[in-house]
Amino acid sequence: MSMNPHRIRAFAPGRVNLIGEHTDYNDGLCLPFAIDRGVTVTAELHDGEVLGPGLAGDERFLPGTVAELRRTGVEVPGCMLEIAGDLPQGTGLASSSALCVALSLALCAVAEVEPPRPIRLARLCATVESEWAGQQTGLLDPLAALLGEEGRAVRLDMRTLEASPVDLDLHGHALAVLDSGAPRKLAESGYNERRDECRRALELLGVESLRDAEDGSSLPAPLDRRVRHVISENERVDAAVAALAAGELRTLGELLNASHASLRDDYEVSVPEVERTVEACRGAGALGARIMGGGFGGSVLALFAPAVPLPDGAVAVRPGRGARLL
Ligand code: GLA
Repeated sequence: MSMNPHRIRAFAPGRVNLIGEHTDYNDGLCLPFAIDRGVTVTAELHDGEVLGPGLAGDERFLPGTVAELRRTGVEVPGCMLEIAGDLPQGTGLASSSALCVALSLALCAVAEVEPPRPIRLARLCATVESEWAGQQTGLLDPLAALLGEEGRAVRLDMRTLEASPVDLDLHGHALAVLDSGAPRKLAESGYNERRDECRRALELLGVESLRDAEDGSSLPAPLDRRVRHVISENERVDAAVAALAAGELRTLGELLNASHASLRDDYEVSVPEVERTVEACRGAGALGARIMGGGFGGSVLALFAPAVPLPDGAVAVRPGRGARLL
């Protein structure tokens, strides 16, 4: 913990999800890693309220984080906050979650208390996003930000909340993100609708979670396709872990392509700009490319063989350290 509680800086990274999309809120599997870009919050003690900049896009994050921390017993003192970052918003790299995690670490540090453990803190951030900012969200983004490690992704089992580090040895290949240019504002996208569809599928199947579903083909459309995506995506996460362990990067690329097809056709979260971006990556020689994050816009993730030049605008991403005080 920083030595000076009067001026604190906390950093939380954005994340890339290698594979395992729309599975977190279905008790499923994900394989994210923290990246080296993120949000830095500076907090300075002062007499008075907690004051911060009008947050672009969502001014409810700050009061929400303060209120939720106070609810857990953290006595957040008056402080002035500054927020800076190099994570583009609305591109599917989990900027809002990074903000919430960095705010939480900074506010706990000025309060001179240890922050909640990762799972509790991730839940707190999800509560801020859903109950204060109107955006339902799973634990994928805050857990990825909190558990990041250099050189490793993390396999998250959202049913047991077990986190297993996975070496991300790419044998000279590169992972890159390319913004589709279609901004993604989660609260206005179809994300919440997809979650409602999953809830309806649960009721009709009579199971507690889609992790328990073996086959959704008896369901009315489009619920049958939604369930098929979740089941097949969970399988692809473990196939990706196995491909990485075996150094089979071509197989990893094929899994990214299969994930994209499933998200486009079964889960229906793609948009034309994203399709064009995926095609641009494949045209540039990507071994695999897929829509990433909540969908309905945002960034595409692509895997390139060694020495293949990245397409214009693509940014190479590699696993970096998790959220921390600076
Ligand atoms: C958004 C949510 C995550 C997760 C992904 C889809 O990023 O915040 O919790 O559901 O979409 O995998």
